[in-house]
Amino acid sequence: MDAKTPILQPDAAIRGGAHEARRHDSAHKHVRGDAPYIDDMIEPAGTLHGWLGLSAHAHAKIVSMDLDAVRAAPGVRLVLTGEDVPGVNDISPTGRHDEPVLATGEALYHGQPLFAVIGETREAARRAAQLAKISYEVLPHVSDVVAAMEAGYPMVTEPLTLRRGDAAAGLAKAQHRLKGEMRVGGQDHFYLESHIAMAIPGEDDEVTVWSSTQHPSEVQHMVSHALGVASNAVTVNVRRMGGGFGGKETQGNQFAAIAAIAAKKLNRAVKIRPDRDDDMIITGKRHDFHIAYDVGYDDDGRIHAVDATFAARCGFSSDLSGPVTDRALFHADNCYFYEDVRLVSKPMMTNTVSNTAFRGFGGPQGVVGAERIIEEIAYKLGRDPLEIRKANFYAGPGRDVTPYHQRVEDNIIARVVEDLEASSDYQVRREEILEFNEMSPVIRRGISLTPVKFGISFTATWYNQAGALVHVYQDGSIHLNHGGTEMGQGLNTKVAQVLAAEFQVDFDSIRITATTTGKVPNTSATAASSGTDLNAMAAADAARQIKERLVAFAAEQYRVSPDAVRFEANHVHIGDLSLPFAGFIKQAYMGRVQLSAAGFYKTPKIHWDRASGTGRPFYYYAYGAAVSEVSVDTLTGEYQVDRVDVLHDVGRSLNPAIDIGQVEGAFVQGMGWLTTEELWWDDKGRLRTHAPSTYKIPLASDRPRIFNVKLADWAENREPTIRRSKAVGEPPFMLPISVLEAISMAVASIDDYRQCPRLDAPATPERVLMAVERLKDSAGAA
Ligand code: MTE
Ligand code: MOS
Repeated sequence: MDAKTPILQPDAAIRGGAHEARRHDSAHKHVRGDAPYIDDMIEPAGTLHGWLGLSAHAHAKIVSMDLDAVRAAPGVRLVLTGEDVPGVNDISPTGRHDEPVLATGEALYHGQPLFAVIGETREAARRAAQLAKISYEVLPHVSDVVAAMEAGYPMVTEPLTLRRGDAAAGLAKAQHRLKGEMRVGGQDHFYLESHIAMAIPGEDDEVTVWSSTQHPSEVQHMVSHALGVASNAVTVNVRRMGGGFGGKETQGNQFAAIAAIAAKKLNRAVKIRPDRDDDMIITGKRHDFHIAYDVGYDDDGRIHAVDATFAARCGFSSDLSGPVTDRALFHADNCYFYEDVRLVSKPMMTNTVSNTAFRGFGGPQGVVGAERIIEEIAYKLGRDPLEIRKANFYAGPGRDVTPYHQRVEDNIIARVVEDLEASSDYQVRREEILEFNEMSPVIRRGISLTPVKFGISFTATWYNQAGALVHVYQDGSIHLNHGGTEMGQGLNTKVAQVLAAEFQVDFDSIRITATTTGKVPNTSATAASSGTDLNAMAAADAARQIKERLVAFAAEQYRVSPDAVRFEANHVHIGDLSLPFAGFIKQAYMGRVQLSAAGFYKTPKIHWDRASGTGRPFYYYAYGAAVSEVSVDTLTGEYQVDRVDVLHDVGRSLNPAIDIGQVEGAFVQGMGWLTTEELWWDDKGRLRTHAPSTYKIPLASDRPRIFNVKLADWAENREPTIRRSKAVGEPPFMLPISVLEAISMAVASIDDYRQCPRLDAPATPERVLMAVERLKDSAGAA
């Protein structure tokens, strides 16, 4: 293949086939405000509204709950406590029974839901909730991860150790050794649509729930457990979410369960939607980490041994903390080969909201650690960190095995970095910046190029399956349903493009329909970036089944060989005959051909043994790299991102427009995580950053001044994924680590790059200023 020739070739014969850059199927509706979200749906007559009553303490025994005044308040129809849950009072996704729908006996974090008020209006329920009289016996609490380790708090789930070679021996014999630690902050999802559920009671024990969830099957199971009914009594529907970002993988369970319980008790529809503050207080976030590392390396900057511990603030329950901290370890190598390595996770319990999935699922925290180690080595040796990165990249045999013993077979990171280094003019700009900093007393600049390698597949192997349901109607129009959920990422658009390409019909012939547990059962969460990989394959499988029947019908009807039947350009070619797709479908219907099929897919090759820490958890890797340039005001700590260049690998893109949107969005969201978004708990364990007034997500004005995003158009997946594409949702979230390290470089200039500044994330202006002051002090002392 010619290195410079793009291999993307959209199908010109139809409109909206695979590989075509086209807008999100709902983009125009998002913009006009007529894409219906759950709160926009027409409410059934008599719909009631819920509000949650929350714990006032981070850790306390609940001595008594007097809810009489709440019950007596105007407009109140029902007050629910944990005692009123008809089935099991538990919504823990891992079956550990550590997460009640409503807490009884003990409150484990400030803001934990203790009771629910159901009223004629949201306002009535909200006002009534304030009338509760709850008496607590306050118990000691721990909010912080390091404090939890010091206090000997338990872990919420079994920790993981990955090891290859002998880290202790490797460290002992290394030429140089360094130890360090850093903290990486958490992050609120800040989806624009907060959590919401609307439950509509049905006959007998049935209930239908509209939920803003990435995981309708799990909501179905949780609602059925909480109600004490079988799964077949519960239907969960999702048309779209106004953002999920991992925050709706498990966190919707509580709202759905409460709405369903109340709906069945009252035989009325019940809707529950926390306001923004409560959503931020009640629902889990990205895990913040404390990372400690001990590294052995040589004069060339080659890493020989790494021994590192990744401790995470998990909150009061396990939720997804096990797989999240596992994934941190799976990414603690990023693109680098460690000869002798030991990586340990510590999923610490804390008296805070239970942390959960968030874009990257722990991976980003692991990658930040890897990049920090590189930076430390570079400053110790007085070299450009990029040289150290390159010296440690995974390479051919002997340097291609990860700490979890999977071989990196599809490594293209050297090429990605080489291309980006050239196209971004990295070397020249770095020289200019070094010169600039010498002349500039206050404003200092920094530049950094960081790579990403991200493993694709759920590490819970059984999750890597998907189903789809495709109907072709008599008029040739196609109904598409699959197990994935749409949260803005463009999953439905891509799956419909694949289906259009399979049938060779225009995109507009395909109707995208709401995800429902009634059509495709036993689905996995739309997560781990694998929504398209899994569901598009399942949809293609359904299409192929229908096409096989159509081909057999055409061959018989027109007495041609099956090879003479082709689907092309909205037509079906049968020998010399060419029929419009719709006309042919009508004939097939009259010929009694089944025009509907359920498709299925499971990812091949993967396996994982957690006990031994070995296997092939990932089907393949996605790669990318970014160069970021920043200016820092060393008197205030304020900074701006002047320029970003990205080169990202999505294999053969199914839709370059959507993929670039994903890369840009992930970059800005990751930048927010590493720079301005700071979660802060006070000494009483109260989250004090629970609204946009105190929690700063990136604004349009924070975007990089110059933002060049390109897909590696020469890349294709070496595995036979759907049309050789790669997952895109999470990998680019780690590209803005280059912003953090560019800020770090600007700070390091204060002391003439003699030391790697201790710069924890998020590098808020306050933290940047403190890092600057520390370096000024030590430079003055020297
Ligand atoms: N993009 C938008 N617009 N909104 C989202 O909520 N979630 C991200 C990513 N991109 C998200 C998004 C996360 S956390 C994941 S895992 C993937 O999308 C999930 O979708 P996919 O598997 O279809 O890529
Ligand atoms: Mo994404 S964190 O896997 O929902």
